[in-house]
Amino acid sequence: MSRLIESLEILTDKDKENLELPTISVEENALNDRKVYIESYGCAMNFADSEIVASILKKEGFSTTSNINSAELILLNTCAIRENAEQKVRNRLVHINPLKKKNPSIKIGILGCMAERLKTKLLEEEKYVDMVVGPDSYRDIPNLIEQVESGQKAVNVFLSREETYADISPIRLDSNGVTAFVSIMRGCDNMCSFCVVPYTRGRERSRDAISIVNEAKDLFERGYREVTLLGQNVDSYKWNNDKNETISFADLMILVANINPDLRVRFSTSHPKDITDEVLFAIKNYENICNYVHLPAQSGSSKILESMNRNYSREWYLDKIAKIKEILGEDCGVSSDKIVGFCGETDDDFQETMTLVKAVQFDYQFMFTYSERPNTPAAKKLQDDVPEATKSRRLQDLIDLQRTISLKRNEMMIGKTEKILIEGFSKKSNDFLHGRTSNNKMVIIPKGSLEKGQYVSVKITDCSSGSLKGVING
Ligand code: SAH
Ligand code: SF4
Ligand code: F3S
Repeated sequence: MSRLIESLEILTDKDKENLELPTISVEENALNDRKVYIESYGCAMNFADSEIVASILKKEGFSTTSNINSAELILLNTCAIRENAEQKVRNRLVHINPLKKKNPSIKIGILGCMAERLKTKLLEEEKYVDMVVGPDSYRDIPNLIEQVESGQKAVNVFLSREETYADISPIRLDSNGVTAFVSIMRGCDNMCSFCVVPYTRGRERSRDAISIVNEAKDLFERGYREVTLLGQNVDSYKWNNDKNETISFADLMILVANINPDLRVRFSTSHPKDITDEVLFAIKNYENICNYVHLPAQSGSSKILESMNRNYSREWYLDKIAKIKEILGEDCGVSSDKIVGFCGETDDDFQETMTLVKAVQFDYQFMFTYSERPNTPAAKKLQDDVPEATKSRRLQDLIDLQRTISLKRNEMMIGKTEKILIEGFSKKSNDFLHGRTSNNKMVIIPKGSLEKGQYVSVKITDCSSGSLKGVING
């Protein structure tokens, strides 16, 4: 566990994505006097979903609260990606259950991927939980609450082929008022053998492009200056308009980028087998589409990639990186995800991951030990045969290597002039602000008379492996 935290420390500049740390909702609405407390775990998709749930509940007279003790409804939007993600939720329930013991009128709901994976089993295992709701059933929450209020337990874990919540305008929670996530698709059809997501989020479907552009426009008009387009595999985004023209992911990015040159566009996550040159040229041609790609490799060994069912080889991945650097330049930010200790991973396979990391020189990475997930193809067909101690040692080696590379990549920024978008106060002091460069590096600058939401040109003066320091240019 401490190792995972360590791996995340290098990565504090990557907004929420994949962070399994809970975030608490804070928006209050005086007219709605029923209070809901929502805690979100897992990836950015889950955080975005909580904002949809808040919107659905608002119509039912609920406002969100950051004070769990004042809530009549407590919702945990959960993640199932690794065993420890589920354990975190179980531990949290140990702390929440006494609230309900004291006041039985409090209702507890489990939403998201763990709800979908465990279904009614969750009600059997967690006797204080009243409601289990899968990611495609959030529209049903008002009915489920009614059921719970009539004294029953309520479950809806139906997975849909169509649901995209396109018409629901999310209520922004924990917002800095500058950056926002916009969900562009749901589900995943990829079937990577280790991954639970296809089972918890269902089939892939793309959201209506018009509703995406309208949401981004609305955000811009309300002062937001950056949107991150979200999906498990954004490169397979595909939507047909009423003239039967197909809007690709590159088209969609351009539509959003054209809203205003002052609206930055980011996206997550790309799949190495699907990212197209069209996407890379869109990044190159639009200054406000950020010069940064998150391209999870998972492993550097072609043998392991095959058993992971990733549908690309080490060479394919390296070619993609070469293409990215050719089109977007050496400065283009590139990050990745890695799993170490997957079934059958030998020391030699692991060394291939290490040499891939050295060859690519990622700006940062999310790194994990393999966690077998029940009923996935890997759990059914492969042996989880790498000892935990070996997995941990490999993870530590990889983290150490990445830290050196992150530092080197950041040192290369010193002396450069960068345009950053200010997101708010630095974590450590209100005398400093933080903002990000186009290539997704966090920069700390003295506050001066600057405000969040502003673009500013800064000169990079110093760095650590996790962030840069800068001063206003000129
Ligand atoms: N859709 C994205 C990633 C989604 S999950 C993609 O394809 O890249 C985020 C990351 O969690 C994955 O990239 C992978 O590195 C990690 N992950 C997924 N399943 C895992 C498992 N069973 N054990 C350990 N890490 C896992
Ligand atoms: Fe999981 Fe693979 Fe889909 Fe990513 S692309 S969500 S790793 S199945
Ligand atoms: Fe995301 Fe976790 Fe579900 S990573 S898609 S919340 S399993």
